[in-house]
Amino acid sequence: MSQTMNLKEETLRRIDEVIPRYPQKRSAALPLLHLVQEDQGYISPEAMEWIAAKLDLEPINIWELVTFYPMLRDKPVGKKVVRVCRTLSCALQGSYKTCSALREALNCENGDTSPDGEVTVEFAECLASCHTGPVVMVNDDLYEHVDEKRAREIAGELDSGKGSGAAG
Ligand code: FES
Repeated sequence: MSQTMNLKEETLRRIDEVIPRYPQKRSAALPLLHLVQEDQGYISPEAMEWIAAKLDLEPINIWELVTFYPMLRDKPVGKKVVRVCRTLSCALQGSYKTCSALREALNCENGDTSPDGEVTVEFAECLASCHTGPVVMVNDDLYEHVDEKRAREIAGELDSGKGSGAAG
């Protein structure tokens, strides 16, 4: 394990600033996880060990946090992240079919991320637009009423590099 985990200098500086703000080092675990994820896109096993060592914890303590909080990732994500709401209202409006159509069209069937590392398709919990489901987010853009046909259109736009455009 390297001394700096190849983290950016800015991230290392912020980590060193954050830790002393807590009376107990262990309380800095979540802020550190967010900083590392912001820097590297996910929390690798090496990063979990590194954070644990920094905070005088065991790696298992860090792993438990990573697996508990849905916003923390233990795998790399694609350059584009497609999130499909699976909470009740969207699920009833067909979001599981939407997700399957996206996964098929974007070659993400055997896991969340396409083999070329371009796109991740994953489920998300309520995206706060329940009456316009199924709802999909592509990076920061919201798409509403995404049935299977619309899902394939969105996949086509992503494939052709147009990426996340107007909502609708
Ligand atoms: S249930 Fe899907 S946005 Fe709320």
